[in-house]
Amino acid sequence: MKMWCLQILLFILFMTDAAEIIDVFGYEGKEANVSCSYDEGYESYEKFLCRNDCGIDDDVLITTRQTHKNRYSIRDDTKKRVFTATISNLTQNDAGKYWCGVDISRKLDEYPAEVKVEVEKDICCDNSSKVQSYEGGSVSISCSYESQDQNNTKYICRGNQPSSCLQQALITSNNTQNTQFSLTDDKESRKFTVTITSLTQKDSGSYLCGVKRNTGLDVFSAVDLEVREWCCVKSNKLSGTVGRPLTMQCPYPPQHGTNRKFLCKGDHHRNCTDMVTSQNSSGQTDVRFTLLDDVSSSSFSVTITELKAGDAGTYWCGSDSQWTFGNYTKIQLSLGKRTTQLQCS
Ligand SMILES: *[C@@H]1O[C@H](CO)[C@@H](O)[C@H](O)[C@H]1NC(C)=O
Ligand SMILES: *[C@@H]1O[C@H](CO)[C@@H](O)[C@H](O)[C@H]1NC(C)=O
Ligand SMILES: *[C@@H]1O[C@H](CO)[C@@H](O)[C@H](O)[C@H]1NC(C)=O
Ligand SMILES: *[C@@H]1O[C@H](CO)[C@@H](O)[C@H](O)[C@H]1NC(C)=O
Ligand SMILES: *[C@@H]1O[C@H](CO)[C@@H](O)[C@H](O)[C@H]1NC(C)=O
Ligand SMILES: *[C@@H]1O[C@H](CO)[C@@H](O)[C@H](O)[C@H]1NC(C)=O
Ligand SMILES: *[C@@H]1O[C@H](CO)[C@@H](O)[C@H](O)[C@H]1NC(C)=O
Ligand SMILES: *[C@@H]1O[C@H](CO)[C@@H](O)[C@H](O)[C@H]1NC(C)=O
Repeated sequence: MKMWCLQILLFILFMTDAAEIIDVFGYEGKEANVSCSYDEGYESYEKFLCRNDCGIDDDVLITTRQTHKNRYSIRDDTKKRVFTATISNLTQNDAGKYWCGVDISRKLDEYPAEVKVEVEKDICCDNSSKVQSYEGGSVSISCSYESQDQNNTKYICRGNQPSSCLQQALITSNNTQNTQFSLTDDKESRKFTVTITSLTQKDSGSYLCGVKRNTGLDVFSAVDLEVREWCCVKSNKLSGTVGRPLTMQCPYPPQHGTNRKFLCKGDHHRNCTDMVTSQNSSGQTDVRFTLLDDVSSSSFSVTITELKAGDAGTYWCGSDSQWTFGNYTKIQLSLGKRTTQLQCS
């Protein structure tokens, strides 16, 4: 690597001859592999990776005489006649021009290829689409892609880091179904859809839709999912007084006119206890509760004749045993003590 004039001549020869440029992409903080093939007969020669124009010895980053040097490592697969130099802990400063070199004698180097390294930020994306759903429900996330990616692997992952997305994919188009996720690919409209079922609030957050590219970096788009608390037509707060009566109003969808209506008590609708229902009073233990259904106004009311301290808490008015989202009124009842009023004459 010493005869600079000859080197320059070789560059020119090479560049006019076979101006192959290898594009290598890597993410900031991660690694990039620069793979260079060479011709038969060069197996035993020393290989190296150098930077810029390789004009000075400092430009030589690593050679096959060593396996590791600083952030560089190199290995030579003489069977496949490919040597690979790895640059780790990439920064933007690593972007630029490199050469794969073969040291064919102490005086003369050959450069099988020019390499262009590009370093991308390991974060995606500036904008994202927003999707909302509810606890216990499901959601479909739709991801568009370009027509050239029709037959490529599609996937989705949590977070916003492209470098680890495929490795940590929740589901891919190679394996389209698991307990919570499923993936369908509509090649005609060039979008794939990921459905997430049994949502909990833990599923809220950022997701990346990924499309595998055979050359260069995969393509990503970002989605923000918000899983909202399961609730109701509306949420009411009521306050009552111990010893006094109280009436709760419960509207319901008109098409539920003939359904069984009920008032259920408990922190959560999944495990609340019916206090009173419209169709069956034989199971009712507390006679203080009466339910009056007014089908013409799509509403029922529940009256508690004499409030007790234990009546405070959360109630759910319902008209749908499937608990379809949005058809309930949630009532939070708080109780105050009866205030003694002075009788003035
Ligand atoms: C680089 O090559 C090594 C060894 O083949 C591999 O384990 C690693 O995943 C590659 N890195 C990238 C970014 O492709
Ligand atoms: C890469 O960076 C990590 C953390 O910054 C550091 O621990 C490690 O030693 C670095 N590796 C090289 C080869 O420089
Ligand atoms: C993000 O912005 C780009 C360019 O403005 C646009 O083409 C793309 O559709 C946007 N993506 C989302 C998910 O909104
Ligand atoms: C995808 O595969 C189909 C069927 O093999 C082929 O007709 C189509 O051209 C391919 N699309 C792309 C973009 O390669
Ligand atoms: C998916 O399968 C295709 C064809 O079998 C394969 O080429 C591709 O590498 C696979 N993708 C992943 C992410 O495993
Ligand atoms: C009712 O269900 C909720 C949510 O599933 C749970 O957090 C709570 O502990 C349950 N309460 C009882 C008394 O089982
Ligand atoms: C009424 O409630 C009782 C006790 O909860 C139950 O055994 C009975 O099957 C119910 N009848 C109807 C018609 O729902
Ligand atoms: C209430 O239930 C009906 C029928 O089950 C359904 O069509 C409607 O969308 C529900 N209302 C809301 C706000 O979800």
